[in-house]
Amino acid sequence: MRPKRIIEIIKDGQTNTIVTVKGWVRTRRDSKQVSFVALNDGSAVGNLQIVVDNDKVDEALMKRITTGACLSVSGLLVASQGKGQSVEVQAQNIEILGDADATYPLQKKGHTWEFLREVAHLRPRATTFGAVFRIRNQMAYAVHKFFHDKGFVYFHTPLITSSDCEGAGQMFQVTTLDLNNLPRTDEGKIDYSQDFFGSPTSLTVSGQLEGELAATALGAIYTFGPTFRAENSNTPRHLAEFWMIEPEMAFYDIVDNMDLAEEFIKFCVQWALDNCLEDLEFLNKMIDKELIERLKFVTSHDFVRLPYTEGIKILEDAVAKGHKFEFPVFWGADLASEHERYLVEEHFKKPVILTDYPKEIKAFYMKQNEDGKTVRAMDVLFPRIGEIIGGSERESDYNKLLARIEELNIPMKDMWWYLDTRKYGTCPHSGFGLGFERLILFVTGMANIRDVIPFPRTPGHAEF
Ligand code: 4AD
Ligand code: MG
Repeated sequence: MRPKRIIEIIKDGQTNTIVTVKGWVRTRRDSKQVSFVALNDGSAVGNLQIVVDNDKVDEALMKRITTGACLSVSGLLVASQGKGQSVEVQAQNIEILGDADATYPLQKKGHTWEFLREVAHLRPRATTFGAVFRIRNQMAYAVHKFFHDKGFVYFHTPLITSSDCEGAGQMFQVTTLDLNNLPRTDEGKIDYSQDFFGSPTSLTVSGQLEGELAATALGAIYTFGPTFRAENSNTPRHLAEFWMIEPEMAFYDIVDNMDLAEEFIKFCVQWALDNCLEDLEFLNKMIDKELIERLKFVTSHDFVRLPYTEGIKILEDAVAKGHKFEFPVFWGADLASEHERYLVEEHFKKPVILTDYPKEIKAFYMKQNEDGKTVRAMDVLFPRIGEIIGGSERESDYNKLLARIEELNIPMKDMWWYLDTRKYGTCPHSGFGLGFERLILFVTGMANIRDVIPFPRTPGHAEF
């Protein structure tokens, strides 16, 4: 018979029936007569308490009920006298499905996050990570639900690419060439014509350019997939492999784009409040006492919308009044996380959408403003996170886009197909990218992005 999961057994609450539960031992507490075993099967943050009468269970078997062991327990479900649970199981039959010896790393509570990253193969069994990964799952569903309900088409863009969308140049190369014996051209350069794809290729940093092709055909699309960046940034907000959601919409201007971004984030956060409350309450208690309050605040307040130039003025005022930033503030500067967080956490105390950045610090494809200096970019800045979304209205004018591509020396052999969208029935359009892990950071209250993805990839780390 298919066993019921613990969450179902607790929800059904059919006391005085025989149940069978399977899961892993979280803790065991012994008194003279009985032992209390907290069993967890990952279905919920809470454990099911198993009460074992020491006289009824063979001593050898009793010894094998240790933290980490996997059990199948049958017994009577009864209302619990103890506090902390509504029901418990009076064990009648215990089978050890898998022993866990004393080297099981998750023995005691209070491990450091760093230690838990070293046992990433087991950390989903730690209560906090169970909560985080269940929330992550709910958020992925919320993303699809939001766009599906709006009639957006989920569009799959390639992971292997021969163009560098953002012009950032920090890409992971993909090759099947023998690195110890590289084929060379007559000029001594690497002969990529002999490589798998016949040209240099990399893992994509964004699906946007292909997303634009799709938006100018299907109208409104989104992508949701892994993204790769080989930047050597060891921060609590950067991963080398992360998941990004990139909607792209024909006929949206930058205001429509901002409206969608704000509605989208609020929907996801509300989804968490509506569907993950138990896990959120656990995280609120254990990780961050202001978590739920912060989530509710975001869903119930308008985001501030502000041009970059005014943002810089606020930051310059702060500096004049004695506020110290590590990085300099001046018009033209790329904002560091400390600047973004100052605006959000100290000045406005709300999420901020910053628009109209200097063109020099933004990608080539953004729509150029009349002033000749700024572009119709929009970054959504969040408390504790800084940039959570980056996007823009796109330059739809063929000649302006071409001029910018030439100005930046972007090789035309990479770009001809992208430019074709502007040649054949070009249209105003916009889009943005949400970093999925940054959203999960915000929703869970976790402090480090390495702790909201099951197997983080960061400089020097690709184990598991
Ligand atoms: O601002 P970014 O670089 O924008 C783009 O990639 C555009 N193509 C998006 C678009 O307009 N379609 O990245 C978008 C978001 C950032 O705001 C951030 O949340 C996240 O992706 N992000 C990262 N998350 C984790 N680790 C990294 N190294 C990230 N780099 C960006
Ligand atoms: Mg960005």
